[in-house]
Amino acid sequence: MLILAPSILGADFKKLGAQVEAVDRAGAQYIHLDVMDGEFVPSISFGMPLIQSLRSCTDKIFDVHMMVREPGRYTEAMKEAGADLICVHAEACTHLDRTVKHIKEAGLKAGVALNPATGTEVLEYVLDDLDMVLIMSVNPGFGGQKFIPYTIEKIRKVRKMCTERGLTTDIQVDGGVTCENAGQLIEAGANILVAGSSVFRGDPEKNVKDFLSIFEEYEK
Ligand code: DX5
Ligand code: ZN
Repeated sequence: MLILAPSILGADFKKLGAQVEAVDRAGAQYIHLDVMDGEFVPSISFGMPLIQSLRSCTDKIFDVHMMVREPGRYTEAMKEAGADLICVHAEACTHLDRTVKHIKEAGLKAGVALNPATGTEVLEYVLDDLDMVLIMSVNPGFGGQKFIPYTIEKIRKVRKMCTERGLTTDIQVDGGVTCENAGQLIEAGANILVAGSSVFRGDPEKNVKDFLSIFEEYEK
């Protein structure tokens, strides 16, 4: 199933609740929440209180992208705030296996994110435990950056790894995703597209619908 995950980092924070409701209404299946600590990535975004308050705006899946050093420290707090899925960066976890198991034991879905320059070999021993792999198609930390084309090859590689193991793991792509490159990403093997500026710039409801109509073409 193809899933759209609007990243609220691209939203207008003055009217965040209304914007989340708008993308929910338009049919987006996930809400992508970018948590940044100012250490793993240069910027600081938001944390548990904001996620908790948005929980009352929508029942959609809360997909929490932790751009945080040692994110395992926040699993319980994120669960309490309303996270359904926690995605951690391989580069930010000293004990990736422990962190993934911890998320699963908390009853949440677990994802591992790879920065553009990180190789797929870090997935070798944890892939079977994962619900999702996130291929970053920009260097994490900011919205509105340009898509890095070589990451398409990495999507293909991870999809192949999954298929060879008989896994139907979700593959998410995040950064510079637009209606123009969506088709290529789906063809490479991604099934969850994160979109920040391309959803929230202009009319979010219309933009979500545009993405979903592309998905329909591929699901035929
Ligand atoms: C970047 C974040 C992304 C970001 C995407 O570090 O992980 O989720 O919001 O924004 P766009 O879609 O504008 O590249
Ligand atoms: Zn993200």
